[in-house]
Amino acid sequence: MNKYLPERCDYLGIDHSEGAIQYCSKLYPNQNFTTKDLSLALPELASKNQKFDAVVLAGLLFHNVDKETLEHNNDQELVQFCLDKLISDKGYLVLIIPFAYGDHPSHNLYVRAEWLQKLVEKLLQDVKAKIVYENISLQIGLDKKVLQQKTTPDWFVTDSTTDYSNKYAGTYMATWTVIASPSPD
Ligand SMILES: C[S@@+](CC[C@H](N)C(=O)[O-])C[C@H]1O[C@@H](n2cnc3c(N)ncnc32)[C@H](O)[C@@H]1O
Repeated sequence: MNKYLPERCDYLGIDHSEGAIQYCSKLYPNQNFTTKDLSLALPELASKNQKFDAVVLAGLLFHNVDKETLEHNNDQELVQFCLDKLISDKGYLVLIIPFAYGDHPSHNLYVRAEWLQKLVEKLLQDVKAKIVYENISLQIGLDKKVLQQKTTPDWFVTDSTTDYSNKYAGTYMATWTVIASPSPD
């Protein structure tokens, strides 16, 4: 994400994984990163009355865990906290939600994408946030696969810039991006 941020943006990246933060700090030495659990970092920011134009939860929903017990934390509580305490009145919550899909009919892209979309819409409805934008994107190598489907979905956009040589190669990945505003009106 840093690749696309203008220099004037004040950015803070948080993750409780030291390895992840070291990796990001090397890539973007001029940006702020902190190795902390969100359960500590977010209340600390709120107690200093820090507000953000955007809070981006990248790959965090459904992966938000307690580092010690590895138990899943409550996503709704996290999202509610961000909306109530950290996002400025005209700010936005950005959810980036990658998901895998496969060849099995119960696991196909459309089934998985719709299932996840409903889950996220319900979550945002429960916290009274308003969706202002949503978009799905696919990793490269999927063109052939999608074009084999009977109908090509109108949101399908080929992405020739994505690096597909990672450990997920061979699995199909897509990502929902949802932007919500704290205000329901
Ligand atoms: C699926 S990865 C996404 C990594 C990265 N944000 C990205 O978009 O590529 C989930 C990340 O969330 C971090 N994480 C999970 N629970 C967390 C928590 N409670 N506090 C801080 N980081 C957490 C993990 O360490 C992991 O790096």
